[in-house]
Amino acid sequence: MTSTNDIRRSFLDYFGSSDHAEVASAPLVPFSDPTLMFVNAGMVPFKNAFTGLETPPAPRATSSQKCVRAGGKHNDLDNVGYTARHHTFFEMLGNFSFGDYFKEQAIDHAWTLLTKEWGLDPERLLVTVYHTDDEAFDLWKKRTGFADEKIIRIPTKDNFWAMGSDGPCGPCSEIFYDHGDHIWGGPPGSPEEDGDRFVEIWNLVFMQFTQENDEIVGDLPKPSIDTGMGIERVAAVMQGVHDNYDTDTFKALIGASESLTGVKAEGDNTASHRVIADHLRSTSFLLADGVLPSNEGRGYVLRRIMRRAMRHAHLLGAKDPLMHRLVPELVSEMGAAYPELVRGQPLIQEVLEREEVQFRRTLDKGLRLLDDATADMGEGGTLPGETAFKLYDTYGFPYDLTEDALRGRGIAVDKEGFDAAMAEQKAKAREAWKGSGEAANEEVWFDIAERAGSTEFTGYASTTGEAEVVAIVKDGAEVASAAEGEEVIILTNQTPFYGESGGQTGDAGRIWTPEGLEFAVETTNKPLGRLHTHVGKVGKGSVAVGDAVHLEIDAERRDRIRANHSATHLVHAALRDRLGDHVTQKGSLVSDDRFRFDFSHPKPMTEDDIAVVEAEVNAEIRANEQVSTRLMTPDDAVAAGALALFGEKYGDEVRVLSMGSKGEGGRNYSVELCGGTHVKATGDIGLFKIVSESAVSSGVRRIEALTGEAARAWLVARDEAVRAIASALKTSPDEAPQRVAALVDERKRLEKELAEAKRALALGGGGSGDAGPADEDIGGIAFSGQVIDGLNPKELRPLLDEAKTRMGSGIAAICAVNDGKAAFACAVTDDLTHRFSAVELVRAGVEALGGKGGGGRADMAQGGGPDGSKAQDALAAVREALARENA
Ligand code: ALA
Repeated sequence: MTSTNDIRRSFLDYFGSSDHAEVASAPLVPFSDPTLMFVNAGMVPFKNAFTGLETPPAPRATSSQKCVRAGGKHNDLDNVGYTARHHTFFEMLGNFSFGDYFKEQAIDHAWTLLTKEWGLDPERLLVTVYHTDDEAFDLWKKRTGFADEKIIRIPTKDNFWAMGSDGPCGPCSEIFYDHGDHIWGGPPGSPEEDGDRFVEIWNLVFMQFTQENDEIVGDLPKPSIDTGMGIERVAAVMQGVHDNYDTDTFKALIGASESLTGVKAEGDNTASHRVIADHLRSTSFLLADGVLPSNEGRGYVLRRIMRRAMRHAHLLGAKDPLMHRLVPELVSEMGAAYPELVRGQPLIQEVLEREEVQFRRTLDKGLRLLDDATADMGEGGTLPGETAFKLYDTYGFPYDLTEDALRGRGIAVDKEGFDAAMAEQKAKAREAWKGSGEAANEEVWFDIAERAGSTEFTGYASTTGEAEVVAIVKDGAEVASAAEGEEVIILTNQTPFYGESGGQTGDAGRIWTPEGLEFAVETTNKPLGRLHTHVGKVGKGSVAVGDAVHLEIDAERRDRIRANHSATHLVHAALRDRLGDHVTQKGSLVSDDRFRFDFSHPKPMTEDDIAVVEAEVNAEIRANEQVSTRLMTPDDAVAAGALALFGEKYGDEVRVLSMGSKGEGGRNYSVELCGGTHVKATGDIGLFKIVSESAVSSGVRRIEALTGEAARAWLVARDEAVRAIASALKTSPDEAPQRVAALVDERKRLEKELAEAKRALALGGGGSGDAGPADEDIGGIAFSGQVIDGLNPKELRPLLDEAKTRMGSGIAAICAVNDGKAAFACAVTDDLTHRFSAVELVRAGVEALGGKGGGGRADMAQGGGPDGSKAQDALAAVREALARENA
């Protein structure tokens, strides 16, 4: 049996031996294409090479490209598990000609590889061509000797391939394999073409046009070739099976899933195992390329795929989270061909487990709701869109998961209803996904790059330089010159100005000429990843394309940026030391006054974590080792232990930054691929201080930190604050914390004492020699009246209860005054309630306080008024009421 790994190797070797440059798979996230969600075909990384915007890596290339078709134009998610050939993740083997050979050689190569190298039986093969493509028809005929009916003309879009709504496209020719008449189905173009007997294994696209919004808008500079062969399909053919899921890779993954769940892939369970195997591949590869689950954009597609798999794991009765335990099998199957899987393994496992644990919390409840909602439905029923939305919103069921869950019972979901409920969230997600809107402006950069080439960056070694102005851009369009006062962007053939990229902020500084130009550079950007654009204003003089100019960066600012950037590398290493290898950089922002560093980690750092990381980084700073930069091929860099930034595209050469003390095998404390500017020795960082640690999104933490003078100034400000506290406490800064703690305790004690004193004061009204006033006698009724400043109104009732007990028979009133306002309460002993109502008495008092009302019962009532200065009047009003009643 020919293994999938052997097939991949053999394909690449075949084309390699006919002068095709072997190009490694690009990351799944398209780095330069805002119109595409994921790389969905082998040609995507070469899009600009086809359209002529970029120089191709070589006239001919070959690759095995990772592809995801879920979300976006090509979306196969819904079918996965239920068919023999749909996948969310697959590998596309391809050969490419960038204006080199065209149809004839493409056809010849395909035929030679299939029938000579791989020995497929020509009888089993047939091909299609676009209906008007006589040339392709004739070439196939000449090369294969096929009868006319084995070269089928197809008039539909099936034989016209486009990457997306925008991009290169052209007519195509597909090669089909006949799996034999024991399987139902007919050749392409026949009424039975949807059957499974004839399977497309290779698509040869004759790239000729470029389209925008699905309309052809022009010719490619040169006719080119793009081909795509799904490795899973051809593996099925070469391994003598009909179903992709019966090939070696899938058998291994499904086997692992069977043994971990204890459930055989038979009958109804087959689909679940297939879904799990397929989704394990797409989710792991997406995670390896830096995508994390989230609720929008790419992250949400990833989450949908994950959760769909997790429901199937649940369906198989998996008691514990399953997906992360399958990763080792995947790594052993595919890690050799895709080393990013090996590097990413700890992170992949960590994220999958966390997501599955989290989803399992709501899965059961959601499924119960779904069962209830569909209990009365039979085949042909429709779940209301609102219910689907509730499942989405409350239980975290992506729409397709709900659909998938009902599929087996023939129940549909009201998509319109769901969409209506979702419209708002969707609009938001789309907004976020569309990105920065920079795409529209890119045209001008492509034009300049094409004409003038990339800007050469001279700023690793120097902070000044001379250069020629190659372009000036104003309001998105090129201009020939700029005069005093104009805000423009200047491009030069070379520059020491670092363009904002990799999280490092762009340089500021000046561009000037002896003839009188003074241009203040506010910042420098880096469109297309290779042009350095100086953004600023002409302060004096003028500048024109072709001028020779001097460039000078703000070197002190750059030094601060360097220190911050180098500190991010040390922090990255320290975080991995302290928290574990799942820590990966998720982004950073390095400016001149501070930096932040985002990294994957599922929970907040503890105070101890922070202290240890801080101490470790500062120890590295004090060790003051030289920072070394080497240029290497990306492969050598990774072999040397460099932490690759997942998902980034690297050129032929990468810069490898090594810094910090040497550990095992002479490896430096930190080794990373990085294009940024760095300190010469770690001591230049001076000092490092973390000033905050927070969450960015689920599973991603952020550290904000300072270095050098900014860190010192921050610590000085802290120190001054402590001194100020100490001086107010008349103690030393060292003793201040104890003093503050003691003061806090003392304050608590005093507050308690004060409250007690006030109570005692109020209770002392029996004329027993305590501080309280003696009871009065108003016409034979004992009356106790008091005004107490600062008494908590809550104390009124208990105090009055005690007064009643003490008096035996009588009437008591207390007015508590706080912040100028009064709370007033009256109590009447039971023997007197038939004559006096506490409610009436309180109301009389409240009126005197400028308030209204008051309520309670005949024996106890309470109210309040805005004017606490009238407290004595309130008591007088009660005395009066008593006297009146008695008269
Ligand atoms: N780009 C072509 C496809 O994806 C080869 O089918």
